[in-house]
Amino acid sequence: MNIGIVSKSESYYSTIRLMDEIRKTGHTFTIIKHPEISLYLDNDKVKIFKQSSELHIKRLNGIIARLGSNECGFPITLLRQFQILDIPVINTPEAILSCSDKYETLQKLQKAKVPIPKTFYSSPGNTESFEASAKMLGNKKTILVKLMTESGGTGISRITPKAIPDVVETVWETGERVHLQEFVKFATVNGRGRDIRTILIGGKIIGAYQRIAAKGRFKANIHQGGEPKAYKLTAEQKEIALKAANAVGADIAGVDILSSKDRKANIVIEVNTSPGFEGFEMGTGINIAKRIVKYCISKFDKK
Ligand SMILES: Nc1ncnc2c1ncn2[C@@H]1O[C@H](COP(=O)(O)OP(=O)(O)O)[C@@H](O)[C@H]1O
Ligand SMILES: [Mg+2]
Repeated sequence: MNIGIVSKSESYYSTIRLMDEIRKTGHTFTIIKHPEISLYLDNDKVKIFKQSSELHIKRLNGIIARLGSNECGFPITLLRQFQILDIPVINTPEAILSCSDKYETLQKLQKAKVPIPKTFYSSPGNTESFEASAKMLGNKKTILVKLMTESGGTGISRITPKAIPDVVETVWETGERVHLQEFVKFATVNGRGRDIRTILIGGKIIGAYQRIAAKGRFKANIHQGGEPKAYKLTAEQKEIALKAANAVGADIAGVDILSSKDRKANIVIEVNTSPGFEGFEMGTGINIAKRIVKYCISKFDKK
């Protein structure tokens, strides 16, 4: 079997790990770096070029897609082309798109009765919504402003409700989409933010780890200095993680949960369709790349 890996770069840690694990199975892979790809269509044919040479589409049995949430233009069209050619894609472009937009994710989670933080989103230029936004988020001293499609903890800031008009108007000026969210207090442990990343494959929980933010920080992302540590999920956390992955239709899902100290209150803040492997491996000791490769091979085999 030949497995295509769509990724921006072949030097990303998780992409390297996928390549290693495919090699070990005896199958082959083709790395498809989307910045190097071009697509061609006419009445009779579809062609995909990798730099100047043509990609042998017929030799591909399936695609593993690894996309950042802000890489959802051309790469999504590429994934859709594979689907149209009957080549299975994991995660599907539909799931990737839903999760690349943080508000759309929350819309789907809310429908599936997954607990979420209070979140406010209005059309760019709707300055009349400022007052309502602070009120709807509970007039708390601190709220969060989040860009819609950023990841890795970039594009999120704590602000006071008074700063809403200035901050939001400045973001609108850049053309970025932005939403406001309640700052969930139980996210912090001794002044350090904490979240729980659970990875699921094919509707099954593979494992979870907690990320403790660097001192004085609230963002627990590994890229923001978050420290990965082992974590055992409660039955309720397992249930909401399963519901969340299912709600967005993600075969492979990294569900981010904020939990109170007593672990009774839990909310899901987002679902990632290309969760990073490094922190997960460090926090759980589980070979997640191997599990994903095994799952994808069994799915591609059935095609
Ligand atoms: N509503 C919130 N309340 C408290 N902390 C939050 C909230 N939302 C996010 N965080 C913190 O910020 C980090 C990044 O937020 P997240 O929404 O997961 O965006 P990203 O896509 O950048 O990971 C989270 O891992 C968490 O530590
Ligand atoms: Mg996150």
